[in-house]
Amino acid sequence: MSTLSLPHHSKMLSDDFLYGVATASFQIEGGADSRLPCIWDTFCNTQGKVADGSNGEIACDHFNNWKQDVELINYLGVDAYRLSISWPRVIKESGELNPEGVNYYLAILDQLKAKKIKAFVTLYHWDLPQYLEDEGGWLNRETVYKFRDYADLISKAFGDRVYAYATLNEPFCSAFLGYEAGIHAPGIIGKEFGKKAAHHLLLAHGLAMQVLEKNSPDTLNGIVLNFTPCYPETDSSEDKKASDFADDYFNQWYIKPLFDGEYPEIMTQLPTENHPEIHDGDMAIISHSMDFLGVNFYTRAIYKADKEEHFFQIDPPAPRTDIGWEIYPKAFTELLVSLNEKYSLPPIYITENGAAIDDKLVDSTVNDTDRIDYYQNHLNAVHDAIEQGVTVNGYFAWSLMDNFEWAEGYLKRFGIVYVDYDSQVRTIKASGLAYKALITNR
Ligand code: FCB
Repeated sequence: MSTLSLPHHSKMLSDDFLYGVATASFQIEGGADSRLPCIWDTFCNTQGKVADGSNGEIACDHFNNWKQDVELINYLGVDAYRLSISWPRVIKESGELNPEGVNYYLAILDQLKAKKIKAFVTLYHWDLPQYLEDEGGWLNRETVYKFRDYADLISKAFGDRVYAYATLNEPFCSAFLGYEAGIHAPGIIGKEFGKKAAHHLLLAHGLAMQVLEKNSPDTLNGIVLNFTPCYPETDSSEDKKASDFADDYFNQWYIKPLFDGEYPEIMTQLPTENHPEIHDGDMAIISHSMDFLGVNFYTRAIYKADKEEHFFQIDPPAPRTDIGWEIYPKAFTELLVSLNEKYSLPPIYITENGAAIDDKLVDSTVNDTDRIDYYQNHLNAVHDAIEQGVTVNGYFAWSLMDNFEWAEGYLKRFGIVYVDYDSQVRTIKASGLAYKALITNR
């Protein structure tokens, strides 16, 4: 397949449905010597943590190439660009704004504005300043107030340049992968830590929402959550129970407090030493109303019952993308429909969706038909959810270009634009051209 299409009556073909591309600061910027170190610098420099032993010091060198990259974004014809701000680039250890870092983003935001591209700004896409991690990071309640202060200063500095703010990207990844499984920075391992970190992240989100509502009342303010819907291996009640538990542990844990002001009931089944430390009033702060919910979707997970643990995840069946994630677009529709049933949601933006493919640059082209198939099937899945009554107002491809894929380093390519990391030359893949055609032919 080389084109992307949608049914002619689809709301996704209307002018007010936004199409965008997404990136994150640490994954593309480089320019590491003009900012303070973050937890991902430290993690990358710890042997055995990143698959190819790489780091984010140069990445896509977007720090130097941002002008061309904004041209590229513009050429793709998208309505919106989702980027994240590097906290250690814009805030000094003293807590004051770092004017050079702020000016760097102001220039990008001004350029986007000049090209009429809406800026979706994520305040935290995992690059916590290392000096805060040295004080306990997201396990320390003080970090919550530091994040609020950062959100306050930066939203004042950005003025009216931003269309939408997301406080956090995927708090599940920060909390669980970073402070429980230890496979992301800061690499802390222990069941007693994950939910404590999660609570502080969600509290930081709530306090930042208060600040954004005050400083930036005309932007859409919300959060970005990731979901990996859980399915039972068989119809047995044991497997169903296992999969429901996993769903509460990995997915509902992050959305239920935002909309219902409480954690899932499975909390009572967790040992008390694993519980979050909840102060009076915290849940009211966390459940602050939002203008939008960002949903990131890539794959599903399948669980079965286990004798010792609450659940056991089985290996994902084929078909899979290059990162080993099962391709199962039906779960995307079912996820959106079920979230819409469970919660009273604001409009949804699909803030990330995409596929890792083992791309080859041949004669200056990348013929990534598998990625185009992935996008087609997932755009259809969003369309189906909209038909079933879910309000989805936009869709962002992950990612604008190949970049530093966290613990996988540069081994996995998610871009609709190919990056040659030696020359920093960008080549629009077949998927990028198909995405551009879909958007411009609306
Ligand atoms: C998401 C992250 C994003 C990217 C994709 C593949 O979990 O938000 O930065 O790495 O996965």
